[in-house]
Amino acid sequence: PLPARVRLVEVGPRDGLQNEPQPVPTAVKIELVHRLQAAGARDIEVTSFVSPHWVPQMADNAQVMAGMERPAGVRHAVLIPNLRGFERALPYRPDEVVVFGAASETFSQKNINCSVAQSIERFAPVVQAARAEGIAVRGAISCALGCPYEGAIDPAQVGEVAGRMKAIGVQHVGVADTIGVGTPRAVQRALEAALRHFDLDDVSGHFHDTYGQALANTYAALEMGIWQFDAAVAGLGGCPYAKGATGNVATEDLVYMLHGLGIDTGIDLDALVDAGLYISQCLGRPSQSRAGTAIARK
Ligand code: HMG
Ligand code: MG
Repeated sequence: PLPARVRLVEVGPRDGLQNEPQPVPTAVKIELVHRLQAAGARDIEVTSFVSPHWVPQMADNAQVMAGMERPAGVRHAVLIPNLRGFERALPYRPDEVVVFGAASETFSQKNINCSVAQSIERFAPVVQAARAEGIAVRGAISCALGCPYEGAIDPAQVGEVAGRMKAIGVQHVGVADTIGVGTPRAVQRALEAALRHFDLDDVSGHFHDTYGQALANTYAALEMGIWQFDAAVAGLGGCPYAKGATGNVATEDLVYMLHGLGIDTGIDLDALVDAGLYISQCLGRPSQSRAGTAIARK
């Protein structure tokens, strides 16, 4: 049987906006978070504390954290590449920090300017500091299904990084298809590799929809009992260091499918569609969500 309930991590404000060429005003980011919260989002990846030289769009991380409302019951996550980032984020007390590594050496170099082994060394003190502060730690494994520089990625490489993350105290891993090339059986093999090191409750899927496979891949993961997924409202998203990568699976599309399967998400789909329209209007382009567009037309 499929899981009865799914935990969605809304990554629109972070993954969704990090790649925007035009600066998105901080007030718009905060309003987006508020609308997502109003739609029932209980896990939101809000921003990243990365180098502003590398990702200028996230340079207002502190203002976003300070300016948004933090209702009880909503968990706010932030991406952290190094101890410097953690120290900058700590005053804002994120509920969760996400260290982000890769199953591909070249992508690691391009995205965070160090080898996979060095990245684990950098993450270790972040994990230690976060857990000492009672902050949950998730790890993202980029290029788990393929790399824009190296091409195919062996699931064994996913298992290797998952094992190293486990060894430094990371509590949960997200298997990320950065460039959306995965297909359902390949996704299952990548998830299986992560599941050799983490429990079923501690593995999630992060599927970009570049090749239109994200919903099928999600279903394949659900069949394995995976019940936690990242998604971005309006199908926003992309990584500045992964050429050709497009958005994450649209949260509206995912919620539509899950509700159709009788799976509880806690999300009010109409309110979520409104949040997607809001951000699409602010960005001046149509929503990438098929369900969102269809519902808005009714
Ligand atoms: P580096 O250049 O090797 O770092 O970058 P550095 O330590 O030499 O520092 C360079 C400059 O950055 C210095 O500034 C530091 O102070 C500053 P300067 O003295 O020259 O003015 N700096 C920082 N500033 C603020 N916060 C920090 C920080 N660290 C250094 N935390 C680094 C290494 C990791 C910092 C850099 O490569 C970086 O920031 N990379 C982030 C790239 C990124 O954000 N990518 C997108 C997110 S990952 C993603 O989208 C994938 C995901 O969605 C899953 C998937 O789909 O695959 C998660
Ligand atoms: Mg991503």
